[in-house]
Amino acid sequence: MRIVSPNFSDLLKPNIEIKQFPDGENYVRIQQIKECEGNEVVLFHRLYPDQDRAIIQLVLIISVLKKAKAIVTLVSPYLPYARQDKIWLDGEALSAETICALLAHSGVKKLITFDCHFLKKEGEFKYGGLKIKNISLSKSLIEYAKSKFDGDFLVISPDVGAAYMTKGFEGGYMKKIRGDYAEGDEVYRKIEKLENTIDFNCKNVLVIDDIISSGGTMIKAVENVKKNGAKKVLCAATHGLFLKESLSKLQTMCDELFTSDAIITPVTKVSIAPLLKNLL
Ligand code: R5P
Repeated sequence: MRIVSPNFSDLLKPNIEIKQFPDGENYVRIQQIKECEGNEVVLFHRLYPDQDRAIIQLVLIISVLKKAKAIVTLVSPYLPYARQDKIWLDGEALSAETICALLAHSGVKKLITFDCHFLKKEGEFKYGGLKIKNISLSKSLIEYAKSKFDGDFLVISPDVGAAYMTKGFEGGYMKKIRGDYAEGDEVYRKIEKLENTIDFNCKNVLVIDDIISSGGTMIKAVENVKKNGAKKVLCAATHGLFLKESLSKLQTMCDELFTSDAIITPVTKVSIAPLLKNLL
């Protein structure tokens, strides 16, 4: 049985009703709940944008399925809160673990997601008590890049964490050095530098990452690659949040910027759809 949230309507036909009460709280109804009773259910629900609201909606959806004794596999292409997977200062919340524990306790049997930040490779994992299947979109993104370059190109990641996305292709990874938290209310660890030993001179380059958030990492990577003499530079990420002015800034810096539809962005060019086919 397939249960689809309205926020997945670009790929599948929704069959969950989600509305808001006058005070903004969420209302959820699964009309086909009788068909879910005691059955395996694959639930498609995006957790971004508006991640906090989307998480509450998910908890409500799962509560309905749990009462119907359904066995739930959740497909959420982007897992929010995945980037705080380490404690830097005493007393910080380990958000990645907490969100996974919340999903597991709510009744998610297994999460299927794409290029989950803290896993740093494809495969089956258990984290925060949650079973996770992590699928990488790197091959699909690289395939798209092939159609944009005339000949050979290097595939590089801006940090070690995303190095798995370049595996099997000529290229490598840079090393990102972050500093302390910046002053102020916004939580952000500044990027001091990207160390690089790769020769980009006269080469075509695809810079690939799991996520572009504020864009700080990708902007520094493109500056680095260009400063070192690269010819044509493409930038790709599985997840594009494009906060602040990063979308327009990156578009002016590189020859093409593109993402998948794990999160729908103005530069979505690659779809997760073919990888979802065998889940249906
Ligand atoms: C971090 O290690 C990730 O792979 C990304 O490079 C990072 O989260 C992107 O964030 P931002 O766009 O804010 O630099």
